[in-house]
Amino acid sequence: MKAVTYHGKRDVRVDTVPDPTIEKPTDAIVRITTSGICGSDLHLYEVMGAFMDEGDILGHEPMGIVEAVGAEVTNIQPGDRVVIPFNISCGSCFMCNQGLYSQCETTQVREHGKGATLFGYTKLYGHVPGGQAELLRVPQAHFGPIKVPEGPGDEQFVYLSDVLPTAWQAVEYAAIPDGGTVAVFGLGPIGQMCCRIALHRGAREVFGIDLVDERLDLASRHGATTIDVRGHDHQLVERLRAATDGRGPDSVIDAVGMEAHGAPLGKLAHQLSGLLPNQVAAKVIEKAGIDRLSVLHTAIEAVRRGGTISLSGVYGGAADPMPMMELFDKQIQLRMGQANVRRWIDEIMPLLADGDPLGVQSLATHKLPLDQAPHAYEIFQKKQDGAIKILLQP
Ligand SMILES: NC(=O)c1ccc[n+]([C@@H]2O[C@H](COP(=O)([O-])OP(=O)(O)OC[C@H]3O[C@@H](n4cnc5c(N)ncnc54)[C@H](O)[C@@H]3O)[C@@H](O)[C@H]2O)c1
Ligand SMILES: [Zn+2]
Ligand SMILES: [Zn+2]
Repeated sequence: MKAVTYHGKRDVRVDTVPDPTIEKPTDAIVRITTSGICGSDLHLYEVMGAFMDEGDILGHEPMGIVEAVGAEVTNIQPGDRVVIPFNISCGSCFMCNQGLYSQCETTQVREHGKGATLFGYTKLYGHVPGGQAELLRVPQAHFGPIKVPEGPGDEQFVYLSDVLPTAWQAVEYAAIPDGGTVAVFGLGPIGQMCCRIALHRGAREVFGIDLVDERLDLASRHGATTIDVRGHDHQLVERLRAATDGRGPDSVIDAVGMEAHGAPLGKLAHQLSGLLPNQVAAKVIEKAGIDRLSVLHTAIEAVRRGGTISLSGVYGGAADPMPMMELFDKQIQLRMGQANVRRWIDEIMPLLADGDPLGVQSLATHKLPLDQAPHAYEIFQKKQDGAIKILLQP
């Protein structure tokens, strides 16, 4: 089969690799019809190479048609149309029983001290082949796959794998009071959906913050009050306060993560990690930290006293000091984590059946054949050609 594979920093290719097969009775094989490229894939593309092997198959936002199931998989059968959550969870352990699917104890990667295994996401997360491919082996398939109806196009459902539950959890964790305000930093696919979900769930005003024209425009068309940070970073907090009776928004969502633009120290480490041999680079990233925490620091400054910050952007590293005194003095609640995908599906599904209130039909700016993955990664990273969300179609 054909699959999108990692070959080094900013080097993904489409290779021919062996077809996956059922290895365990809880596996399924799915023929992929659509597979998203995520902002998290850009971390692999740029800075996380130390945790990748050449030839690793990328991708964790797939959907398709079940081709085969193992003996213990009874919830789905060949021919079913399914979306595959990006985290692999068993559905019945201590963590799964609490809806903490991204911490599943059956699939936790203990060797690296990490939570649930993820598709296509480095050795730290289980080294499982990803879903930007013609076929995917789905472990724990007795629980993971989400059955979706025939009829509407793939873009109606594919975001159930990651974008929608991630944004839903970010808004849930942001604990926006009824009629309250929220600032969303970063207007990639996750930030866009955070804005829409926050408005849908009753926020009075949503501030959408980014530095790319078409991303700001899109958020504005969907009801956000947008702020362009280019050139006036330092005024951002004042502008948010001025719009919220001088206090700052009730909640802040960070949907940027460690690829934030405009953090000089982070940038240096970022470049360094690309130059160092892999073993050294791995230590730099995990221990010394290459975080670009500028957005998080701004979020801490911006949120009102007693407010909540919800992190959905992915962070790595540990070195950057956190402003503990400010966090404590302002009495800030800080919540974060990988999305517990299956936890939110029942709440989101009705919004996909009824009139498209979240506008999922128009989120994808590009639908490209799998063969064009190298081009797709490049324009998504460089934000060229208006790329906001790209779906690959094997
Ligand atoms: N928690 C989870 O389970 C989960 C799931 C999916 C994605 N993520 C993470 O969420 C983040 C966003 O994902 P995405 O797919 O939307 O990616 P993306 O890269 O398209 O979006 C990031 C956005 O942040 C903007 N940005 C960069 N620097 C900024 C700054 N200083 N101020 C304001 N905006 C800035 C960029 O212009 C871009 O629009 C990534 O870190 C990704 O890894 C987390
Ligand atoms: Zn993702
Ligand atoms: Zn589990």
